[in-house]
Amino acid sequence: MDGDGCFRSLFIPNWSSDVRLEGKTAIVTGANVGIGKETAKDLAGRGARVILACRDMAKGEQAARDILREVKAAKVVARQLDLADTKSICQFAENIYNTEKALHFLINNAGVAMCSYATTVDGFEMQFGVNHLGHFFLTFLLLDLLKHSAPSRIINLSSAAHNMGKIEFDDLSGEKKYNPVSAYAQSKLANVLFTRELAKRTEALGVVAYSVDPGMVKTEITRHLKRPLMDITKAFSSLLKTPAEGAYTTVYCVVTPENQLLTGGYYKDCGSAECCRAGQDDGTALKLWAVSCHMLGIRWR
Ligand SMILES: NC(=O)c1ccc[n+]([C@@H]2O[C@H](COP(=O)([O-])OP(=O)(O)OC[C@H]3O[C@@H](n4cnc5c(N)ncnc54)[C@H](OP(=O)(O)O)[C@@H]3O)[C@@H](O)[C@H]2O)c1
Repeated sequence: MDGDGCFRSLFIPNWSSDVRLEGKTAIVTGANVGIGKETAKDLAGRGARVILACRDMAKGEQAARDILREVKAAKVVARQLDLADTKSICQFAENIYNTEKALHFLINNAGVAMCSYATTVDGFEMQFGVNHLGHFFLTFLLLDLLKHSAPSRIINLSSAAHNMGKIEFDDLSGEKKYNPVSAYAQSKLANVLFTRELAKRTEALGVVAYSVDPGMVKTEITRHLKRPLMDITKAFSSLLKTPAEGAYTTVYCVVTPENQLLTGGYYKDCGSAECCRAGQDDGTALKLWAVSCHMLGIRWR
């Protein structure tokens, strides 16, 4: 093992599971590349039917073909979903209700990181809009199906970046002040707080929720980075997890028996972990929930 391999082995969990998922259906958002694609491949390899929810159908279908090449009997299909457009989210959910009888795992994986200021079709700041509001709305729309398929699980991809996050309630649109790194951290803290509040509301329905930090993974997530951050990432790229390794903790949260996990909890390196204090603030979680409903014009029973 070389020096890099030795270092990597220190933080890549030695975890595997032979749990099978025949008869289960999963949706993975952002499944055309990176951690999402590897997550989808793993679940398909366990026998699950996997819906690759991708904003670019050509990329989604290519990912489905790639998975089929590696997992011969994979049941994978690509469906269009743009989390930056609430109309697209509605159409995706409608399509799911028309075609699927059950949904056991919703993996809210897609993400955009540290981009220049931009807004979604509905006028939300892009990182908060896609990473948090888009998945919040998608979960809202799919909850009935998850409930009817219970026991079921929702897994929200967060990040260690949530530790630097603060929910700027008086400037969620980033109009007063925008910093790409802070906006990413805010959206990833929102993922943790959303999971926490969601878990309380859905536990009695047989639906559990976990948030996941996949670790530092070599993917396309750095595509919007500017120098010198991009140069630093490149210099350390051989130390980063591979996308398959980055999918471990998500898969761990899918296959580990429910009584060994804590709904609403935060997981990393295939185990439970402590999120930052802001991520444990129930008052902020509740306020974020109410503000998110208001921004999306929805009422969550
Ligand atoms: N890589 C890391 O080190 C790391 C660390 C901590 C947390 N994470 C989290 O892990 C998750 C997966 O990231 P990754 O590293 O695999 O990144 P990635 O390779 O850049 O993949 C991101 C995925 O999200 C999709 N996406 C972006 N905007 C979307 C939109 N508006 N609608 C639908 N899909 C959209 C992308 O689609 P396109 O290909 O069409 O753009 C792509 O499929 C993210 O939530 C990220 O925050 C990653």
